[in-house]
Amino acid sequence: MSSYHIKNLEEYYKVYRKSIREPELFWEEIAEEHFNWHKKWDKVLSWDFKKPEVKWFDGAKLNITENCIDRHLRTRGNKTAIIFEPNNPDEEALHITYKQLHERVNRLANVLTNKGIKKGDRVCIYLPMIPELAVSVLACARIGAIHSVVFAGFSATALATRINDSGCKMVLTSDGSYRGNKTIDLKGIVDEALTKCPEVNSVLVVKRIHSEITMLAGRDNWLQPLLNEASATYEPEIMNAEDPLFILYTSGSTGNPKGMVHTTAGYMVYTAYTFKNVFNYKEDDIYWCTADIGWITGHSYIIYGPLANGATTVMFEGVPSYPDYGRFWKIVEKHKVSQFYTAPTAIRALAKEKLDYVDQYNLSSLKVLGTVGEPINEEAWHWYNDNIGKKKSPIVDTWWQTETGGILISPIPYVTPTIPTFACLPLPGVQPCLMDENGKEIKTNQVDGRLCIKYPWPSMARTIWGDHQRYKETYFSAYKNTYFTGDGALRDTVGYYRITGRVDDVIIVSGHNLGTAPIEDAINEHPAVAESAIVGFPDDIRGNALYGFVILKETGKDRKQENLRKEINQLITEHVGPIAKLKKIQFTSGLPKTRSGKIMRRILRKIACNETEHLGDTSTLLNPEVVQEIIGHVL
Ligand code: WT7
Repeated sequence: MSSYHIKNLEEYYKVYRKSIREPELFWEEIAEEHFNWHKKWDKVLSWDFKKPEVKWFDGAKLNITENCIDRHLRTRGNKTAIIFEPNNPDEEALHITYKQLHERVNRLANVLTNKGIKKGDRVCIYLPMIPELAVSVLACARIGAIHSVVFAGFSATALATRINDSGCKMVLTSDGSYRGNKTIDLKGIVDEALTKCPEVNSVLVVKRIHSEITMLAGRDNWLQPLLNEASATYEPEIMNAEDPLFILYTSGSTGNPKGMVHTTAGYMVYTAYTFKNVFNYKEDDIYWCTADIGWITGHSYIIYGPLANGATTVMFEGVPSYPDYGRFWKIVEKHKVSQFYTAPTAIRALAKEKLDYVDQYNLSSLKVLGTVGEPINEEAWHWYNDNIGKKKSPIVDTWWQTETGGILISPIPYVTPTIPTFACLPLPGVQPCLMDENGKEIKTNQVDGRLCIKYPWPSMARTIWGDHQRYKETYFSAYKNTYFTGDGALRDTVGYYRITGRVDDVIIVSGHNLGTAPIEDAINEHPAVAESAIVGFPDDIRGNALYGFVILKETGKDRKQENLRKEINQLITEHVGPIAKLKKIQFTSGLPKTRSGKIMRRILRKIACNETEHLGDTSTLLNPEVVQEIIGHVL
């Protein structure tokens, strides 16, 4: 018998030890007892981090939607699978049962098939947080198409890059979206993106805001009429364990975004198992994760993990500040939410507002609080613990990445004693380690180092779409035979981990992972800009804000700096999205560079953070004199 739900610390250590000593047996028992398979695997795990190649449950046959939907029909057919809470609090919430979800997914699966989408084809989903988004994801999985969800806050350029990189043939979108008191013209953004995407021949449009949009004959169709005509049954495509389930883009420190490829069986087993344990999920609970499905958090812990457990999962269309800052808590009260999972940036934003917004609601249904996306500072942790959890709901600070597919380091509520700012202990099956500057593993405790994982776990990304070499270089080349996370971490005396932040050039703003390269590319598009570099600096609400250092061309020097700043941020909004706008822009005559021409962002970061007394050795720079100039004009 497997131990699917860990109930106390002693059991955790026992299970953890087993998962390390006999990883294959450990995962095999869970896979066997808790999922439906058309055929069992030939081999639980084969791996080689040198290639790198990892296969879990190879040879097994399944469809993930049968595990997330069909198998619940007999016992939970009339149970709510998804609660949809609209942006507008006066619009009625929608309760979609497992039976209804089954029917909706089948109808869309038929529509996709009728449109010529087949197993292995890529489909781009660019939708707001409405039920059709979850249904689209599941319909792709049902027919074996690979979904590539693009967060509906991304610009046309960012969308086009992602569509072309993965070779999507179809886009699912809506006429527009609601965001607080604003509407966004999603279809307009899609139209603009598609001028650069010749391979997309079909666009299916959900009617959400009833705006006037243009439909391109032969390419665009309203979705609802097609659904009405489609059959409500669909035999799921039987997939191999290692068939790709989805592509999801994440920023790197250089170059284009990376299309992380996740495969079917391992991802399913791992997200389901971790959902159960990290959220202490019980049959009648109402679970709510506030993330957007455009991020990995939404894939794994709004859709797949919860549905694989037959859970009720809430999807919220709106924003925490609309119609006022009490909205989250109003929803918790209204739907009697038991598990609430959000990001530190949201907590910090809400903690700044009057406590009245919290205190007028009954939050007694809450049992577990979660955070994800960036390190949570102590002040925010205590605010969350005191005011939302009333010191009764354990906080799970869950550490993971788009690449890891599921949560790797986290407390288990009611099991692991928590310490603020610590993600605590590795989940079963996860073997973290810390590496020193020389690439050696640090075996002692009370140290900090670079966080790596030295053994495969089932939901790890298998490759970067179209670029396996980059996958190898980014994750498996920094250290021998281990996966490098890009994060720094500290391990305390009892083996608890505290994540200290990125050690590369990725900057996390409001929980969004931003690479420096695409933002700098956007700035450099400005005709007056010669070169630029951006770094992060601490921000009370967003965790980090962006600071840009910009060198102007001769022709730009006569221009008004305020106008230039506006134009630069406008370009960033168009190319990357508003989230990447710069808070500060300093014009400078040069940037500190190494002799090989690499910008020393480390120095710029210190300057932006006002830590100039610890700049370190600048004498090896190509142009050390520029450092003093920059310090002299810091904003
Ligand atoms: C990076 C991954 C995983 C879903 C959301 C972000 C940072 C994530 C934590 C945490 C400290 C965290 C890391 C990681 N991060 N969770 N609990 N404590 N840092 O996914 O966009 O792929 O970003 O987010 O730096 O590497 P992502």
